[in-house]
Amino acid sequence: MADNSLSITDNRTGKAYKVAVENGAIRAMDLRQIKTDAEDFGLMSYDPAFMNTASCRSNITYIDGDKGILRYRGYPIEVLAEHCTFLEVAYLLLFGELPNEKELRNWVREITHHTMLHENTKKFMEGFRYNAHPMAMFVSTVAALLSVYPEARNIHDANNRLLQIKRLIGKVPSIAAMSYRHSVGFPYVYPDNDLSYTENFMNMLWKMVEPKYVAHPALSRALDILFILHADHEQNCGTNAMRSVGSAHTDPYLSTAAAAAALAGPLHGGANEEALRMIDEIGSKDNVPAYIKRVKEGQVKLMGFGHRVYKNYDPRAKVIKWTAEQVFEATGRNPKLDVAVELERIALEDEYFVKRKLYPNVDFYSGIIYQAMGFRPEMFTVLFAIPRTVGWLAQWQEMLADSEQKIARPRQVYTGHGVREFVPLAKRGATAVPAR
Ligand SMILES: CC(C)(COP(=O)(O)OP(=O)(O)OC[C@H]1O[C@@H](n2cnc3c(N)ncnc32)[C@H](O)[C@@H]1OP(=O)(O)O)[C@@H](O)C(=O)NCCC(=O)NCCS
Repeated sequence: MADNSLSITDNRTGKAYKVAVENGAIRAMDLRQIKTDAEDFGLMSYDPAFMNTASCRSNITYIDGDKGILRYRGYPIEVLAEHCTFLEVAYLLLFGELPNEKELRNWVREITHHTMLHENTKKFMEGFRYNAHPMAMFVSTVAALLSVYPEARNIHDANNRLLQIKRLIGKVPSIAAMSYRHSVGFPYVYPDNDLSYTENFMNMLWKMVEPKYVAHPALSRALDILFILHADHEQNCGTNAMRSVGSAHTDPYLSTAAAAAALAGPLHGGANEEALRMIDEIGSKDNVPAYIKRVKEGQVKLMGFGHRVYKNYDPRAKVIKWTAEQVFEATGRNPKLDVAVELERIALEDEYFVKRKLYPNVDFYSGIIYQAMGFRPEMFTVLFAIPRTVGWLAQWQEMLADSEQKIARPRQVYTGHGVREFVPLAKRGATAVPAR
């Protein structure tokens, strides 16, 4: 009968050990018993960038990158995108079950109730330079919310945590919209609580002198779908930052700001901007074969293609492609979509991409949609941060409730000097220090 364990022989000592295998993993701490002698610290695992280390158990999001599967709480992303609103999915991620009608009504009312920002926040925003990047404003303002709600520090009170979660989900679109209005020099727009989550966000972004902003239904639904697709993606860089900072029992505002700071990096939240730039550079369908040739020669990368986890079609990209068609029915067809579709068609038939399992990822079509809807590229990462706030908070709650979690504190393999004799300043000669 299969034995769920791993036998290890330490060739340094000849000793044999048996460690348990659970859910396809061994506990790294079980390696610590493997020592060369009593003085030895014990064996560690070395894993820069967490390439093969599970940092938690989680019930929230499931990904199978080889099969192209993404599920929230067991529900396929395609099904949620087709049938749910973003706030319904937010409820699912946070509480584990889809809400019934009454629960959803209450949830939407509670989130809507928290869309207003303290008037001081406006002054805070006004202090930013006219050309500040919206993501810099977003991260700083989310952190600054702690100064308005200092009780958020009491993270051990479940009711208090829930209140802050509702505040954050309610306020991130307001902060995002303010950062955009600031960057274009328009007055801030207050939330309109008659509107849905995404309609209200569009209202705060684009309302000018009309008495009531009315969003195009196809565009607000498209934004809602994009928010669903971006709400969580298990232990990525931003989520890991949320859990890591939150593990020090830091409040949810500062923890969310830290996660958003991670998202701001071009390796994380910025690839859709690059994909859009690439499509602009290609210009027309006729230039696609020549561009593909350059990719295959290693001169450029096909941005929006390939993924560390997905070695199949990114399930989010499928939904986004469909959403793009709906958006362009409303806004008029943009030739960029034709270039993107042609790029995808040629790449998916080409041996180079087939062999390397390179498929479109979530960023391939999202930039084109955002631009068609009227967003500037600097706003793309902010658009990602709004829905991802829900995922961060769901993961933060799960981490706090997990009795196995402690403050996140990796080990290191020290490769520096052994102890050295101190030389007083006057006696130090020139040293061969690398140029600073
Ligand atoms: C996402 C990404 C960083 C994943 O990288 P990774 O898992 O480390 O994969 P690798 O870089 O090892 O790529 C494997 C092979 O595919 C090639 N490859 C990967 N992505 C490629 C792309 N977008 N265009 C062309 N070739 C690509 C690599 O050159 C490599 O080829 P080789 O085996 O001949 O050296 C990478 O696919 C990429 O840079 N994509 C473009 C940026 C992007 O869209 N990012 C958004 C991710 S959501």
